[in-house]
Amino acid sequence: MNPALPAIDDTPVWDVMLSVFKSQAITIALELDVFEGLKDPASLDELSEKLAYSPRGMKALLPMLKMQGFLDKHKGVYHLNNLSRAYMLKESPYYWGPFFSRRAETLPNYKMILENIRDGETVEARGSADGWESGQMDPELAKTVTDFMHSHSITSAVGLTHTCDFSGVEKLLDVGGGSGCYASALANHYPDMQCTIMDLAQVCDVAKDYIEKAGVSDRVNTKAVDMFREAWPEGYNAHFYSNIFHDWSIETCEELAQKSYDALAPGGRICLQEILFEEDGDGPFPAAAFSFFMTQGTKGQQYTLNELESILSKAGFKNISAQRSYGYYSLVTAYKI
Ligand SMILES: C[S@@+](CC[C@H](N)C(=O)[O-])C[C@H]1O[C@@H](n2cnc3c(N)ncnc32)[C@H](O)[C@@H]1O
Repeated sequence: MNPALPAIDDTPVWDVMLSVFKSQAITIALELDVFEGLKDPASLDELSEKLAYSPRGMKALLPMLKMQGFLDKHKGVYHLNNLSRAYMLKESPYYWGPFFSRRAETLPNYKMILENIRDGETVEARGSADGWESGQMDPELAKTVTDFMHSHSITSAVGLTHTCDFSGVEKLLDVGGGSGCYASALANHYPDMQCTIMDLAQVCDVAKDYIEKAGVSDRVNTKAVDMFREAWPEGYNAHFYSNIFHDWSIETCEELAQKSYDALAPGGRICLQEILFEEDGDGPFPAAAFSFFMTQGTKGQQYTLNELESILSKAGFKNISAQRSYGYYSLVTAYKI
Protein backbone atom coordinates (compact mmCIF):
# COMPACT_ATOMS: atom_id res chain seq x y z
CA MET A 1 0.00 0.00 0.00
CA ASN A 2 1.19 3.53 -0.74
CA PRO A 3 1.61 5.87 2.24
CA ALA A 4 -1.35 8.26 2.61
CA LEU A 5 -0.77 11.49 0.70
CA PRO A 6 0.14 14.48 2.89
CA ALA A 7 -2.72 16.89 3.62
CA ILE A 8 -0.97 19.56 1.54
CA ASP A 9 0.70 19.08 -1.84
CA ASP A 10 4.43 19.72 -2.29
CA THR A 11 4.20 22.84 -4.50
CA PRO A 12 5.42 25.15 -1.68
CA VAL A 13 8.58 23.03 -1.49
CA TRP A 14 8.98 23.26 -5.26
CA ASP A 15 8.56 27.03 -5.02
CA VAL A 16 11.43 27.27 -2.53
CA MET A 17 13.63 24.95 -4.58
CA LEU A 18 12.96 26.84 -7.81
CA SER A 19 13.36 30.27 -6.24
CA VAL A 20 17.14 29.76 -6.21
CA PHE A 21 17.10 30.36 -9.98
CA LYS A 22 15.37 33.74 -9.72
CA SER A 23 18.38 35.89 -8.94
CA GLN A 24 20.72 33.64 -10.96
CA ALA A 25 18.70 34.56 -14.05
CA ILE A 26 18.71 38.31 -13.33
CA THR A 27 22.43 38.31 -12.53
CA ILE A 28 23.29 36.47 -15.74
CA ALA A 29 21.01 38.70 -17.85
CA LEU A 30 22.78 41.77 -16.46
CA GLU A 31 26.23 40.34 -17.04
CA LEU A 32 25.33 39.30 -20.58
CA ASP A 33 23.81 42.74 -21.34
CA VAL A 34 20.48 41.16 -22.23
CA PHE A 35 18.49 44.20 -21.03
CA GLU A 36 20.75 46.53 -23.03
CA GLY A 37 20.25 44.24 -26.02
CA LEU A 38 16.49 44.57 -25.70
CA LYS A 39 16.38 48.37 -25.93
CA ASP A 40 15.17 47.47 -29.40
CA PRO A 41 12.44 44.84 -28.89
CA ALA A 42 13.41 41.47 -30.34
CA SER A 43 12.25 37.89 -30.68
CA LEU A 44 14.28 35.13 -29.06
CA ASP A 45 16.02 34.29 -32.34
CA GLU A 46 16.70 37.93 -33.19
CA LEU A 47 18.22 38.56 -29.75
CA SER A 48 20.38 35.40 -29.89
CA GLU A 49 21.68 36.45 -33.26
CA LYS A 50 22.28 40.07 -32.28
CA LEU A 51 24.21 39.18 -29.10
CA ALA A 52 25.73 35.98 -30.57
CA TYR A 53 24.47 33.86 -27.69
CA SER A 54 23.13 30.32 -27.81
CA PRO A 55 19.41 30.20 -28.75
CA ARG A 56 18.98 27.39 -26.20
CA GLY A 57 20.44 29.60 -23.48
CA MET A 58 18.20 32.52 -24.43
CA LYS A 59 15.20 30.18 -24.51
CA ALA A 60 15.98 29.28 -20.90
CA LEU A 61 16.72 32.84 -19.78
CA LEU A 62 14.07 35.09 -21.36
CA PRO A 63 11.06 33.28 -19.83
CA MET A 64 12.71 33.65 -16.40
CA LEU A 65 12.95 37.42 -16.94
CA LYS A 66 9.39 37.65 -18.20
CA MET A 67 7.93 35.50 -15.42
CA GLN A 68 9.65 37.72 -12.83
CA GLY A 69 8.08 40.80 -14.39
CA PHE A 70 11.20 42.27 -16.05
CA LEU A 71 10.08 41.76 -19.66
CA ASP A 72 6.85 41.86 -21.60
CA LYS A 73 6.16 39.87 -24.74
CA HIS A 74 3.85 40.77 -27.57
CA LYS A 75 3.38 38.59 -30.66
CA GLY A 76 6.60 36.70 -29.98
CA VAL A 77 8.68 39.86 -29.40
CA TYR A 78 10.25 40.62 -26.00
CA HIS A 79 10.13 44.22 -24.76
CA LEU A 80 11.62 46.08 -21.82
CA ASN A 81 9.00 47.44 -19.44
CA ASN A 82 8.84 50.03 -16.67
CA LEU A 83 10.56 47.72 -14.19
CA SER A 84 13.52 46.79 -16.39
CA ARG A 85 13.94 50.28 -17.85
CA ALA A 86 14.12 51.75 -14.34
CA TYR A 87 16.41 49.23 -12.65
CA MET A 88 18.18 47.07 -15.24
CA LEU A 89 19.58 49.63 -17.71
CA LYS A 90 23.04 51.12 -17.15
CA GLU A 91 21.86 54.59 -18.14
CA SER A 92 19.20 54.69 -15.42
CA PRO A 93 20.00 56.60 -12.20
CA TYR A 94 18.24 53.70 -10.39
CA TYR A 95 20.42 50.94 -11.92
CA TRP A 96 20.84 47.84 -9.71
CA GLY A 97 23.60 46.24 -11.84
CA PRO A 98 26.59 46.66 -9.47
CA PHE A 99 24.67 45.02 -6.63
CA PHE A 100 23.92 41.86 -8.65
CA SER A 101 27.40 41.86 -10.12
CA ARG A 102 29.04 41.87 -6.65
CA ARG A 103 26.64 39.19 -5.41
CA ALA A 104 27.55 37.04 -8.44
CA GLU A 105 30.93 36.35 -6.81
CA THR A 106 29.10 34.47 -4.05
CA LEU A 107 26.80 32.38 -6.28
CA PRO A 108 28.01 28.78 -6.41
CA ASN A 109 28.98 27.65 -9.93
CA TYR A 110 28.08 31.06 -11.33
CA LYS A 111 30.69 30.98 -14.10
CA MET A 112 29.53 27.55 -15.25
CA ILE A 113 25.86 28.61 -15.27
CA LEU A 114 26.71 31.77 -17.21
CA GLU A 115 28.71 29.85 -19.81
CA ASN A 116 25.93 27.30 -20.23
CA ILE A 117 23.43 30.09 -20.95
CA ARG A 118 25.74 32.12 -23.17
CA ASP A 119 27.29 29.28 -25.16
CA GLY A 120 24.70 26.50 -24.89
CA GLU A 121 27.14 24.32 -22.90
CA THR A 122 25.63 21.57 -20.76
CA VAL A 123 28.13 21.36 -17.93
CA GLU A 124 26.98 20.31 -14.48
CA ALA A 125 29.00 20.70 -11.31
CA ARG A 126 28.92 17.03 -10.38
CA GLY A 127 28.87 15.45 -13.84
CA SER A 128 25.74 13.24 -13.78
CA ALA A 129 24.88 14.28 -17.34
CA ASP A 130 28.15 12.89 -18.68
CA GLY A 131 27.18 9.51 -17.25
CA TRP A 132 23.71 9.67 -18.81
CA GLU A 133 25.17 10.41 -22.21
CA SER A 134 27.93 7.79 -22.07
CA GLY A 135 25.82 5.19 -20.26
CA GLN A 136 28.58 4.84 -17.63
CA MET A 137 27.96 6.07 -14.12
CA ASP A 138 30.05 5.96 -10.99
CA PRO A 139 28.10 3.96 -8.32
CA GLU A 140 28.48 6.70 -5.69
CA LEU A 141 27.12 9.32 -8.07
CA ALA A 142 24.29 6.95 -9.08
CA LYS A 143 23.27 6.72 -5.42
CA THR A 144 23.29 10.47 -4.69
CA VAL A 145 21.55 11.39 -7.97
CA THR A 146 18.90 8.69 -7.48
CA ASP A 147 18.21 9.77 -3.89
CA PHE A 148 18.00 13.38 -5.10
CA MET A 149 15.48 12.49 -7.84
CA HIS A 150 13.48 10.24 -5.52
CA SER A 151 12.91 13.04 -3.02
CA HIS A 152 11.50 15.39 -5.67
CA SER A 153 9.38 12.70 -7.35
CA ILE A 154 7.91 10.49 -4.63
CA THR A 155 4.98 12.76 -3.70
CA SER A 156 4.04 13.28 -7.35
CA ALA A 157 4.33 9.52 -7.91
CA VAL A 158 1.85 8.66 -5.19
CA GLY A 159 -0.25 11.70 -6.17
CA LEU A 160 -0.56 10.51 -9.76
CA THR A 161 -2.13 7.22 -8.66
CA HIS A 162 -5.01 9.28 -7.21
CA THR A 163 -5.69 11.27 -10.37
CA CYS A 164 -4.70 9.24 -13.44
CA ASP A 165 -6.22 6.01 -14.64
CA PHE A 166 -3.82 3.19 -15.45
CA SER A 167 -6.43 0.44 -15.45
CA GLY A 168 -5.83 -2.01 -18.32
CA VAL A 169 -2.07 -1.69 -17.93
CA GLU A 170 -0.69 -5.12 -17.10
CA LYS A 171 3.01 -4.59 -17.73
CA LEU A 172 4.59 -1.17 -17.41
CA LEU A 173 8.12 -0.15 -18.31
CA ASP A 174 9.37 2.84 -16.29
CA VAL A 175 11.96 4.28 -18.70
CA GLY A 176 14.81 6.01 -16.82
CA GLY A 177 12.81 5.09 -13.73
CA GLY A 178 15.53 6.04 -11.22
CA SER A 179 14.49 4.85 -7.75
CA GLY A 180 11.33 3.42 -9.31
CA CYS A 181 9.10 5.63 -7.21
CA TYR A 182 6.51 5.76 -10.02
CA ALA A 183 6.68 2.02 -10.79
CA SER A 184 6.38 1.18 -7.09
CA ALA A 185 3.54 3.65 -6.44
CA LEU A 186 1.61 2.27 -9.44
CA ALA A 187 2.24 -1.35 -8.43
CA ASN A 188 1.05 -0.57 -4.92
CA HIS A 189 -2.11 0.99 -6.32
CA TYR A 190 -2.85 -1.69 -8.95
CA PRO A 191 -2.42 -5.13 -7.35
CA ASP A 192 -2.21 -6.96 -10.72
CA MET A 193 0.28 -4.62 -12.41
CA GLN A 194 3.85 -5.77 -13.10
CA CYS A 195 6.48 -3.07 -13.56
CA THR A 196 10.07 -2.91 -14.72
CA ILE A 197 12.41 -0.05 -13.95
CA MET A 198 14.72 0.39 -16.91
CA ASP A 199 17.82 2.42 -16.12
CA LEU A 200 21.61 2.31 -16.09
CA ALA A 201 23.02 -0.68 -14.19
CA GLN A 202 24.38 1.42 -11.31
CA VAL A 203 20.98 3.10 -10.84
CA CYS A 204 19.15 -0.25 -10.97
CA ASP A 205 21.33 -1.38 -8.05
CA VAL A 206 20.12 1.61 -6.03
CA ALA A 207 16.48 1.07 -7.10
CA LYS A 208 16.44 -2.45 -5.64
CA ASP A 209 16.48 -1.11 -2.06
CA TYR A 210 13.68 1.35 -2.85
CA ILE A 211 11.53 -1.44 -4.35
CA GLU A 212 12.01 -3.56 -1.28
CA LYS A 213 11.12 -0.69 1.06
CA ALA A 214 7.96 -0.03 -0.99
CA GLY A 215 7.00 -3.69 -0.44
CA VAL A 216 6.53 -4.54 -4.13
CA SER A 217 9.55 -6.79 -4.86
CA ASP A 218 7.19 -9.54 -6.08
CA ARG A 219 5.88 -7.35 -8.96
CA VAL A 220 8.53 -4.69 -9.62
CA ASN A 221 11.94 -5.56 -11.03
CA THR A 222 14.81 -3.72 -12.70
CA LYS A 223 16.40 -4.10 -16.09
CA ALA A 224 19.79 -2.54 -16.75
CA VAL A 225 19.58 -1.06 -20.25
CA ASP A 226 21.42 1.89 -21.72
CA MET A 227 18.42 3.33 -23.53
CA PHE A 228 20.56 4.80 -26.32
CA ARG A 229 22.81 1.83 -27.02
CA GLU A 230 21.03 -1.36 -26.05
CA ALA A 231 17.91 -3.21 -27.19
CA TRP A 232 14.72 -2.36 -25.31
CA PRO A 233 12.68 -5.14 -23.72
CA GLU A 234 9.37 -5.97 -25.41
CA GLY A 235 6.03 -7.23 -24.14
CA TYR A 236 4.97 -4.12 -22.18
CA ASN A 237 1.66 -2.39 -22.77
CA ALA A 238 2.72 0.93 -21.19
CA HIS A 239 5.94 2.92 -21.31
CA PHE A 240 6.11 5.52 -18.57
CA TYR A 241 8.59 8.42 -18.59
CA SER A 242 8.89 10.88 -15.74
CA ASN A 243 11.26 13.81 -16.12
CA ILE A 244 13.00 12.11 -19.03
CA PHE A 245 11.99 14.14 -22.07
CA HIS A 246 12.99 17.32 -20.23
CA ASP A 247 16.59 16.01 -20.08
CA TRP A 248 17.01 15.84 -23.85
CA SER A 249 16.73 17.80 -27.10
CA ILE A 250 13.68 17.47 -29.33
CA GLU A 251 15.67 15.19 -31.68
CA THR A 252 16.61 12.83 -28.82
CA CYS A 253 13.01 12.83 -27.53
CA GLU A 254 11.92 11.84 -31.04
CA GLU A 255 14.41 8.98 -30.94
CA LEU A 256 13.06 7.82 -27.54
CA ALA A 257 9.43 8.10 -28.69
CA GLN A 258 10.25 5.98 -31.75
CA LYS A 259 11.97 3.34 -29.61
CA SER A 260 8.83 3.18 -27.45
CA TYR A 261 6.51 2.98 -30.43
CA ASP A 262 8.52 0.12 -31.92
CA ALA A 263 8.76 -1.82 -28.63
CA LEU A 264 5.17 -1.36 -27.42
CA ALA A 265 2.47 -3.92 -28.16
CA PRO A 266 -0.40 -2.61 -30.39
CA GLY A 267 -2.95 -0.88 -28.15
CA GLY A 268 -0.12 0.06 -25.78
CA ARG A 269 0.36 3.54 -24.40
CA ILE A 270 3.15 5.98 -23.74
CA CYS A 271 2.86 8.28 -20.71
CA LEU A 272 4.99 11.38 -20.14
CA GLN A 273 4.97 12.97 -16.69
CA GLU A 274 6.35 16.50 -17.07
CA ILE A 275 5.93 20.07 -15.85
CA LEU A 276 4.53 21.65 -19.01
CA PHE A 277 5.11 25.11 -20.41
CA GLU A 278 1.97 26.93 -21.50
CA GLU A 279 1.81 27.40 -25.26
CA ASP A 280 3.54 30.81 -25.13
CA GLY A 281 6.67 28.98 -23.86
CA ASP A 282 7.23 31.55 -21.08
CA GLY A 283 5.23 30.38 -18.10
CA PRO A 284 4.10 29.36 -15.63
CA PHE A 285 7.03 30.24 -13.38
CA PRO A 286 7.70 26.64 -12.21
CA ALA A 287 8.09 25.52 -15.85
CA ALA A 288 10.37 28.48 -16.63
CA ALA A 289 12.54 27.87 -13.55
CA PHE A 290 12.73 24.09 -14.06
CA SER A 291 13.66 24.71 -17.71
CA PHE A 292 16.37 27.16 -16.60
CA PHE A 293 17.63 24.46 -14.20
CA MET A 294 17.83 22.02 -17.15
CA THR A 295 20.66 24.10 -18.65
CA GLN A 296 22.77 22.89 -15.72
CA GLY A 297 23.72 19.39 -16.77
CA THR A 298 21.16 18.33 -19.36
CA LYS A 299 20.47 18.96 -23.02
CA GLY A 300 16.78 19.48 -22.40
CA GLN A 301 14.12 21.93 -21.37
CA GLN A 302 10.50 21.88 -20.27
CA TYR A 303 8.19 21.42 -23.26
CA THR A 304 4.75 22.68 -24.24
CA LEU A 305 1.97 20.17 -24.86
CA ASN A 306 2.13 21.08 -28.57
CA GLU A 307 5.84 20.24 -28.70
CA LEU A 308 5.26 16.88 -27.01
CA GLU A 309 2.29 16.17 -29.30
CA SER A 310 4.44 16.78 -32.32
CA ILE A 311 7.22 14.47 -31.00
CA LEU A 312 4.71 11.70 -30.25
CA SER A 313 2.76 12.00 -33.53
CA LYS A 314 5.97 11.84 -35.52
CA ALA A 315 6.66 8.44 -33.95
CA GLY A 316 3.15 7.25 -34.91
CA PHE A 317 1.27 7.71 -31.61
CA LYS A 318 -2.42 8.71 -31.76
CA ASN A 319 -5.17 9.85 -29.37
CA ILE A 320 -2.88 12.20 -27.45
CA SER A 321 -4.32 13.78 -24.32
CA ALA A 322 -3.05 15.56 -21.21
CA GLN A 323 -4.30 16.02 -17.68
CA ARG A 324 -2.94 17.61 -14.54
CA SER A 325 -1.56 14.73 -12.49
CA TYR A 326 -0.23 16.18 -9.23
CA GLY A 327 1.29 19.44 -8.00
CA TYR A 328 2.84 21.20 -10.98
CA TYR A 329 2.98 18.02 -13.09
CA SER A 330 0.86 16.89 -16.02
CA LEU A 331 0.57 13.48 -17.61
CA VAL A 332 0.54 13.28 -21.40
CA THR A 333 -0.79 9.97 -22.73
CA ALA A 334 -0.84 8.63 -26.29
CA TYR A 335 -1.57 5.27 -27.89
CA LYS A 336 -0.10 2.93 -30.46
CA ILE A 337 -3.27 1.96 -32.33
C1 LIG B 1 15.80 13.11 -14.36
S1 LIG B 1 16.04 11.46 -13.86
C2 LIG B 1 14.37 10.90 -13.72
C3 LIG B 1 14.20 9.80 -12.71
C4 LIG B 1 12.74 9.42 -12.44
N1 LIG B 1 12.05 8.99 -13.63
C5 LIG B 1 12.03 10.58 -11.78
O1 LIG B 1 11.17 11.22 -12.40
O2 LIG B 1 12.36 10.87 -10.62
C6 LIG B 1 16.63 10.72 -15.35
C7 LIG B 1 16.84 9.21 -15.27
O3 LIG B 1 17.22 8.75 -16.57
C8 LIG B 1 18.24 7.79 -16.39
N2 LIG B 1 19.08 7.71 -17.61
C9 LIG B 1 19.86 8.70 -18.10
N3 LIG B 1 20.54 8.27 -19.16
C10 LIG B 1 20.17 6.98 -19.35
C11 LIG B 1 20.55 6.00 -20.31
N4 LIG B 1 21.47 6.28 -21.24
N5 LIG B 1 19.95 4.80 -20.24
C12 LIG B 1 19.05 4.50 -19.26
N6 LIG B 1 18.66 5.40 -18.32
C13 LIG B 1 19.23 6.62 -18.36
C14 LIG B 1 19.05 8.34 -15.22
O4 LIG B 1 19.91 7.38 -14.64
C15 LIG B 1 17.94 8.81 -14.30
O5 LIG B 1 17.50 7.81 -13.44
